Amino acid sequence: MFVSENLNVNEKGHLTAGGMDTVELAEKYGTPLYVMDEQVIRSACRRFKSSIDKYYGGKGLVCYAGKAFSCLEMCRVIASEGLGLDAVSIGELYTALKAGFPMEKIGFHGNNKTDEELEFAVDNGVGHIVVDNISELRRLERIAAEKNACPDIMFRIKPGIDAHTHKFIMTGQIDSKFGFALETGEAFEAVKEAVECKNVKLSGLECHIGSQIFDITPFEKAAEKMLEFIAEIKAELGYDIEILDLGGGFGIRYLESDDPKPFEEYMERVSKVVKQTCGELGITQPAIFIEPGRSIAAPAGITLYTVGARKEIPEIRTYISVDGGMTDNPRYILYQSEYTAIVANKAGEPKDEKVTIAGKCCESGDLIGENMPLQHAESGDILAVCATGAYNYSMSSNYNRIPKPAVIFISNGEARVVVKRETPEDIIRNDI
Ligand code: LLP
Repeated sequence: MFVSENLNVNEKGHLTAGGMDTVELAEKYGTPLYVMDEQVIRSACRRFKSSIDKYYGGKGLVCYAGKAFSCLEMCRVIASEGLGLDAVSIGELYTALKAGFPMEKIGFHGNNKTDEELEFAVDNGVGHIVVDNISELRRLERIAAEKNACPDIMFRIKPGIDAHTHKFIMTGQIDSKFGFALETGEAFEAVKEAVECKNVKLSGLECHIGSQIFDITPFEKAAEKMLEFIAEIKAELGYDIEILDLGGGFGIRYLESDDPKPFEEYMERVSKVVKQTCGELGITQPAIFIEPGRSIAAPAGITLYTVGARKEIPEIRTYISVDGGMTDNPRYILYQSEYTAIVANKAGEPKDEKVTIAGKCCESGDLIGENMPLQHAESGDILAVCATGAYNYSMSSNYNRIPKPAVIFISNGEARVVVKRETPEDIIRNDI
C-alpha cells in the first residue's frame, strides 16, 4: 500500500512510521520535520553487506555514500553496521571523524578536491583517496611526500556506460566532469604515472555510472569494461589492481509504479559477471567495493509538514501549500523528481484529489510535486512526503533565510533528535 515498507495506518487512521504515529511526532517535534527510521537504515546496510558475503565470499566492502544523508548519528549507525563510508568534502570527513568513524574505512571522493582537503585526508589516515584527474594525482603526490606519507588511492574512471537516468545524475559517459576517460587512453596514461609514484599506492579503480538506476545491465557492463582495463594494466605494466569499486546508483521506490530490483539481485548478477570475466581474462578477482547512498537512506525517511493555504483555481489546479518546500527538498525544482504524499491524519481515507503541493519560498517552481494524488487536505493537516531520506536534508538550503528542519531518528518505538531545528539565531550565526 505504501512506497516504504515501514509505513502503515493505525486505528486512528494516522500514518505510522516504524510503528510510531507520525501526527504525534509532528505535534511533539514541530514541522517541517525529517523522520528517519533507524531500523530501515540498518536493514539496508545488512542486506548489502550480506549480499557481498553470499555472492562474493565477503571479499569486498560496502561504503555508504554520505552525500545522501550525513550527520554525526548517521555516521555512528553506519560505523556500527561495519560499513565503510564514501565522503566528498572536508565537511563530510570532519563529521565522520567527530563521530569516531574508522577513518581507514573511508574513501575520499570529489572532482576538485582542494589542497586543504587532501591534507586533511592524509593527516587523518583516510583509507583511500579516489583521485579524479592528473593534476590531483600530482598535488597529492607532493602533499604526501611533504608529510612522508603514502596514501592508498583509487582512480575514478569514466567507463563510457550510458545509464538511463536523469541527465544531471548520469556520470559514466565521456562528457562528464568526473574521472579519467577510458576511450581516449587518458586513464591508462594516468595509471602509468601513478605506478611510478613513490608517495601514493594505486590500489583500485572506481566508477559510478549514475543514480536512481533500475536496470542491472549497465552495472554488469561497467564491471566488464573495468575488468578489461585491469587486465590491460596487468598485461602492459605487470601491475595488479586489487580493488574494483563499482560506485552506487541503485534505484529505489518513490512511486508505487517504481519497481526497483532487490539489492541481492544486483550483487548476484555483478559477482557472476566479475568471476566469469576474470576467468576469461586470466586475472585475479579483485575485491568489490560498492557505494550505495540513496538505497540506504531514502526509504528510511519521510518529511512531515503542516498544511497552510489551500488555493483552488477553477479548471486550473489546486495548490496545497506547506510550511517547507525547496529549502528542505530541492529535488523537484532540480530534477522534477516525483514523490508520494499522504495526509498523515487522514491516511486511511482515499486519495480522491490531484493537487500541486507548493512550498513557502518566493519562487514559482518551489513545488514538492504536481498532479499528486492526495486525500482532501486542509489547513492544519499534517502532510507526509515519503522516501525523502536521501538528498533532502543533505541538499537543503537556507534560501529566503528559512531555518532548516530538525532530523529525528525513530527506533523501536522511541524517537530522538539527531539534528536540532535551526532557529532564527542560527541564521545570523556567521554574519558580522
Ligand atoms: N558514489 C559516487 C562516486 C557518487 O557520485 C554517488 C552519487 C554515489 C556513490 C551514491 O549514489 P546513490 O547510491 O545515492 O545513487 N542529488 C541527486 C543524486 C546525486 C548523486 C551523486 N552521486 C538526487 O537527488 O537524485
